[in-house]
Amino acid sequence: MRVVETVAEARAVCEEMARPLGLVPTLGGLHDGHVALFRRARSENASVAVSLFLNPTQFGHGEDLASYPVDRDADLAMIEREGVDGAFVPSAGEVYPNGFSTAVDVGTLGNVLEGASRPEHFKGVATVVCKLLSIARPDRAYFGQKDAQQLLVVRRLNADLNLGAEIVAVPTVREADGLALSSRNAYLDDLERKAATVLHRSLRLARRLWEDGQTDAAEVKRRMRALISEEPLASIDYVSITDPETLEELDTPAPKALVSLAVRIGKTRLIDNLTL
Ligand code: PAJ
Repeated sequence: MRVVETVAEARAVCEEMARPLGLVPTLGGLHDGHVALFRRARSENASVAVSLFLNPTQFGHGEDLASYPVDRDADLAMIEREGVDGAFVPSAGEVYPNGFSTAVDVGTLGNVLEGASRPEHFKGVATVVCKLLSIARPDRAYFGQKDAQQLLVVRRLNADLNLGAEIVAVPTVREADGLALSSRNAYLDDLERKAATVLHRSLRLARRLWEDGQTDAAEVKRRMRALISEEPLASIDYVSITDPETLEELDTPAPKALVSLAVRIGKTRLIDNLTL
C-alpha cells in the first residue's frame, strides 16, 4: 500500500492506479462501518484509495475536533488488511495552505437538519470532498447512508460541479442491538452505551407506526420524542421526517420519507436515520 502525504503525490499515485478507481474519504478513527465501504469499493474497482483526514473546517467551535478518536497507525493497519492500494494522509496545512480562501456552499440542502444545528458543517464537508475528488479523480466514491444528508450534499456537489465520479451509497452498519457504528461511540461509557440504543429504537417505532398505517408525520415524531424522553441520559436535538431528496419536512411520510434524528447521550451527539 502506498501512503502519501502531499497533494502532488496523491494525484500522481491515483493517476497511475489501475481503473476503475474507487475512493473512500474518511476522517480516520476507523470502525466496521468504514470497513463496509472499503469492501464495497474493493469489490467494484480495480484499485481503491482511502483518505484519512480529520478535516478541521467541518467542525464548529466547541465541537470535538481536538478529542476526535483517531489513531493513524491503527487506521493504516486496518486499510492495509482490507487490501486498499493507496492512502492519502495529508496535514491540515497541506489541504488548507496559507491563503486558502475558497469554499463550496451547497445551498438549502446544507442548511437544514445537521446544517441547522451545525452551521458551516456542510460547507466544510463539501469543500474537502470537492478537493478530494479533484485530487484523486476516482471513477467511484463511497459514502455511508448513516450520514444521509451528507450523501445528498455530496451527490449535489458532484453533479453541480461536474466532478465526474459515480457516488455510491453503502447501507448503515449497526451493532447487534441496533446502534449505528460511529467513531463517536468511543466517547460513551457503559450506561450511555445502553442509553444510545434509543436512537435506533425510536426509528424502529417510526417504521412500525408507518407500517400500521399511521400517516400523520407529526404524530410519528411525537411518539418518537416520547420514547426518547423516557431515557434520562438522552436529550433531543431534532427528530425529523422529510422528503428523502429535498429534505423538506413532510406532513405525511408518503410515498417515501427519510426519518432522521440527532440526540445527545450525555455529552455525545449521535445521529441516525432510516428511509420509510
Ligand atoms: P467519517 O465520519 O470518517 O465517515 C466516512 C464515511 O463512512 C462516511 O461516508 C460515513 O457515512 C461512513 N460511515 C460512518 N459510519 C458508518 C456506518 N455505521 N455504516 C456505514 N457507513 C458509515 O463522513 C465523514 O467521515 C467526513 O464528513 C468526510 C466525508 C470524510 C469528509 O471529511
